[in-house]
Amino acid sequence: SWTTGNVIDEQIAAIREQVGSKRAICGLSGGVDSAVAAALVQKAIGAQLTCVYVDHGLMRKGETEQVEKDFVAATGVQLKVVDAQERFLTALAGVSDPEEKRKIIGREFIRVFEQAQAEIVAEGAAGGEDVAFLVQGTLYPDVVESGGGTGTANIKSHHNVGGLPDDLEFELIEPLRQLFKDEVRMVGQELGLPEEIVQRQPFPGPGLGIRIVGEVTRERLDLLREADAIAREELTAAGLDREIWQCPVVLLADVRSVGVQGDGRTYGHPIVLRPVSSEDAMTADWTRMPYEVLARISTRITNEVADVNRVVLDVTSKPPGTIEWE
Ligand code: XMP
Repeated sequence: SWTTGNVIDEQIAAIREQVGSKRAICGLSGGVDSAVAAALVQKAIGAQLTCVYVDHGLMRKGETEQVEKDFVAATGVQLKVVDAQERFLTALAGVSDPEEKRKIIGREFIRVFEQAQAEIVAEGAAGGEDVAFLVQGTLYPDVVESGGGTGTANIKSHHNVGGLPDDLEFELIEPLRQLFKDEVRMVGQELGLPEEIVQRQPFPGPGLGIRIVGEVTRERLDLLREADAIAREELTAAGLDREIWQCPVVLLADVRSVGVQGDGRTYGHPIVLRPVSSEDAMTADWTRMPYEVLARISTRITNEVADVNRVVLDVTSKPPGTIEWE
């Protein structure tokens, strides 16, 4: 029967067998999945693992610092931080199509991992010439929704499944591939990861890049990051973090509407709030959250974020809408 203990033991044995005396790297995104995958692999192969955090510039406020501090403090893992902001922005320039964005982001992640691999070799780490494995926190729903061999229609290319380039140099280790999110959280807890990591709301690997409907630019990212930080702050202050599965904040960069702010006409962008309730992200319902909290978020975003003059609420369940807009 299914127990977290069994899953952990089985995976550790399988990972040891697969890796042998070689080395592996693991991309950390700041999310639950990659954190649990990393902790599991570290338990299996210890110092043969190096974690790589790619700062692609599509992160939310404070996220990079959180990975650098919390995760390392909790696990003592070896961490390499790569500043790849320029690289991702350049690759995404001029691109608006959601699937194209996802594939570009997936590809650039792998290129950065390859570079990290080369650096580990150059640094002369023991066994460094044998970095052959890439650990990913892919979950069962990621596989299903990317059309991963189950005959299901391809809905989106999750960055770590359908977004991988064809010429991948790594062999993949995906210890969570058969699990749902709630099971991953149980495994994380059993592995001793702190509550702040295990109970974090999901955040997609492609980050804010798929929450800007339209081209991704530095200015738009800055704007969305501000709006997102306000929404998260108010949701946390209202004690809604557990009730809400996640609340994407989306910038409709190609839409403008007329507003009036101060004593003048504005012609700005709408921000969409998408609070959802869910068990496993395969289906979801929009969260009936208190009007007062919505009002506070709306007032603050329109007052504090330049170029945003309207906040709208997404009241669509999944299906027919997906949780993310892209
Ligand atoms: P959708 O939008 O497909 O999202 O209803 C379902 C869940 O998956 C997250 N998501 C992703 N997570 N890489 C990830 O790690 C991705 O490419 C990706 N796309 C969506 C989304 O936030 C939601 O929790």
